[in-house]
Amino acid sequence: DWTMGAYREEAIRKIREQVGDKRVICGLSGGVDSSVAAVLIHEAIGDQLTCVFVDHGLLRQNEADEVVSMFRDNYNIPLIHADESELFLGELEGQSDPETKRKIIGKLFIDVFQKHANDIEGAEFLAQGTLYPDVIESVSFSGGPSVTIKSHHNVGGLPEKMGLKLVEPLRELFKDEVRALGRELGLPNSFIGRHPFPGPGLAIRCPGEITREKLKILRKADAVYIDQIRKHGLYDDIWQAFVAILPVRTVGVMGDGRTYDYACALRAVTSVDGMTADYYPFSHEFLGETATRIINEVPGINRVTYDVTSKPPGTIEWE
Ligand code: XMP
Repeated sequence: DWTMGAYREEAIRKIREQVGDKRVICGLSGGVDSSVAAVLIHEAIGDQLTCVFVDHGLLRQNEADEVVSMFRDNYNIPLIHADESELFLGELEGQSDPETKRKIIGKLFIDVFQKHANDIEGAEFLAQGTLYPDVIESVSFSGGPSVTIKSHHNVGGLPEKMGLKLVEPLRELFKDEVRALGRELGLPNSFIGRHPFPGPGLAIRCPGEITREKLKILRKADAVYIDQIRKHGLYDDIWQAFVAILPVRTVGVMGDGRTYDYACALRAVTSVDGMTADYYPFSHEFLGETATRIINEVPGINRVTYDVTSKPPGTIEWE
């Protein structure tokens, strides 16, 4: 794509001009935006960039390993993998209110990020994968819920607190342009096309109290569900798909025994921007097959439901 090729050259020139020979820190979430920003900046300034990947213990199956191996091994980008799952899950223990959970995660995320960033000597810049819609949103909905949504990833207020200047090379781009730029930079298609994943991660797909047991069950069920969606060639038709583990156990029968295990809800929606969404019209065959696989392959779940709520009035996530 010649347009993105030109954009890439221009963006690299601007980053070099802004940063000079100083060091840059970039927070990696594993999502497309921060990844494209990191690869672009690395191309511009090489080892002057260090990425910090905060692992809050609320990621999906194998996700942390995939991020680490892609950036550290594939791209050779200096990366600090901050495995802070004990800290996050400890602070979340006993908490069931959705906004409290988000606040705990958001605050810890900033603390942890700051702690690790402080170890990077001589850093003067903080890189963020802020997109054009984020810029608009934070202006027009200032103080509203959308700020909370973004406040986790785009660590608001942090640059000033740390005395860092911002580098935001994606500020003029829309999501599909970021994807095109990512392809231009050689990021694998499977990665570019990934569904969005919220900053608080599995915390908001585990309504009520989060426990290690529930997270373990949720990760497995989600992996089976996504595998089913990929196998049926549906992944790219869906905006976002995931499993939520419900805070309720229900009775079932398996073999000659009675079970008393968690129920889960499958969610899949189509959307353009996440602001409105329709539930995805899976076939009954697909749903039946998926339910059977989850119950057979995931100990701890004995009932599967499909969420047919659109947004509005529902939200995409369960919390
Ligand atoms: P809802 O559930 O509000 O989700 O319909 C709309 C989109 O936003 C994502 N989402 C979040 N992303 N922090 C994030 O970074 C959050 O607290 C958060 N809550 C929802 C959600 O995954 C969907 O793409």
